[in-house]
Amino acid sequence: MDLTRRRFLATPVVLGSAVASSAWLAALAAETAPMPNLSTWEAVRAQFALDPALAHFASFFISSHPAPVRDAIEAWRRAMDRNPFHVIDGGLFEDEAHNIPLQVQATIAHYLGGRAEDVALTRSTTEGLALIYHGLQLRPGDEMLVTTHDHFSHHVSAQYAAERTGASLRKVPLYDDAKDASVDSLVANLLKGIGPKTRTVGLTWVHSSTGMRLPIREMAQALKAKHPDVLLILDGVHGIGAVDETIATIGADYVSAGTHKWMFGPRGTAIAWSTADGWARLRPLIPSFSEWESYYAWTEDRPIKGPTNASRMAPGGFHAYEHQWAVKAAFDMHEAMGKARVAQRIHALNTQLKDALAGHPKIHVHTPHAPELSAGLVAFEIAGMKPEDVVKRLGEQNIVASTSPYAVVYARLAPSLVNTPAEVDRAAAAVRSLAG
Ligand SMILES: Cc1ncc(COP(=O)(O)O)c(C=O)c1O
Repeated sequence: MDLTRRRFLATPVVLGSAVASSAWLAALAAETAPMPNLSTWEAVRAQFALDPALAHFASFFISSHPAPVRDAIEAWRRAMDRNPFHVIDGGLFEDEAHNIPLQVQATIAHYLGGRAEDVALTRSTTEGLALIYHGLQLRPGDEMLVTTHDHFSHHVSAQYAAERTGASLRKVPLYDDAKDASVDSLVANLLKGIGPKTRTVGLTWVHSSTGMRLPIREMAQALKAKHPDVLLILDGVHGIGAVDETIATIGADYVSAGTHKWMFGPRGTAIAWSTADGWARLRPLIPSFSEWESYYAWTEDRPIKGPTNASRMAPGGFHAYEHQWAVKAAFDMHEAMGKARVAQRIHALNTQLKDALAGHPKIHVHTPHAPELSAGLVAFEIAGMKPEDVVKRLGEQNIVASTSPYAVVYARLAPSLVNTPAEVDRAAAAVRSLAG
């Protein structure tokens, strides 16, 4: 990012803040505890300030900040409250070595297996999806394809983009009952859905309706083999931090993922990822505060030069930087825990739950049992009982469950790193006893 350096050199006023910011960075490090030893799941659970009277099976909804994230937020907040101008102006507009968003993006990029300059810091999955769909330069006659399983945020982002551009939007199912689906049937149904005018395909990595985890790598490969020009847009929010994957090579052209769910990032943080070519295809929607060419073009009253990139797409306006910058601690924590180890633990707890619910004649588990088609969510129904009542009755036993916010509603339990096998047993026993 030579542009940051250019401004650094061109505007001496920043120098004052550079000094303050560098000194402050050191102070921040001194104020933040080192990453704790996270080698046991008890130690991981101890990082959360969750109410111990409750068994929390809805952590995927929005994260409870673990201690490293709380510490980082607090350290940034103290610094910003002491000297908001220097910390924020210096942090945002510093040279490459000190620019805070770049450092945050570099940590995220390491986790994604990609490049720092391809990561845009956003505030939610929803915001990223809207930026991507509105950034695409679609025309009347183009078709956007999504599936019937995607979230409100995905469908409505595409719908608004369709209304603006005159492109059309079509929804196709990938399965009738998630638990009967296979990698082959999912790939086949995706390919069957593509029409001659399809320009984009929207997929959701882990469906928060059924708990289905799509085999994105296989689906992307099959899609690109037959339709290399169709762009794949992925809502990755329930995959990141739960699945052992290298997101930058999974095969999607665009990924939007909140980091305030499975990643345990600060609430109100998310990332959008694409390649340089992918970003170059988009038209920015919100003026960026982290890309200089658009700023220089404005000061010089001339058109913006060069291709769109992640920085130009990152929404500007000042943000809650104590949260946005503290997302680094969440990625550091995941790196310390180990991606594969995290995924294995989530997987083991979810399999335990599915096994414990299996075989009951009144309990219908919708989530596939296969490890490659599931992740951290178990969606189920109890015959003769409304999902809302299931959640309420579990709540009466201090078990926090949720319902899926879709046209067809299921009850959900989402065993995660904050849970123990004993809690999973207790939740399963409670569901079985409700079923009678
Ligand atoms: C699949 C899916 N996508 C998107 C969202 C919205 O996420 P965000 O709050 O990051 O916009 C949710 C919400 O839980 C979801 O389940």
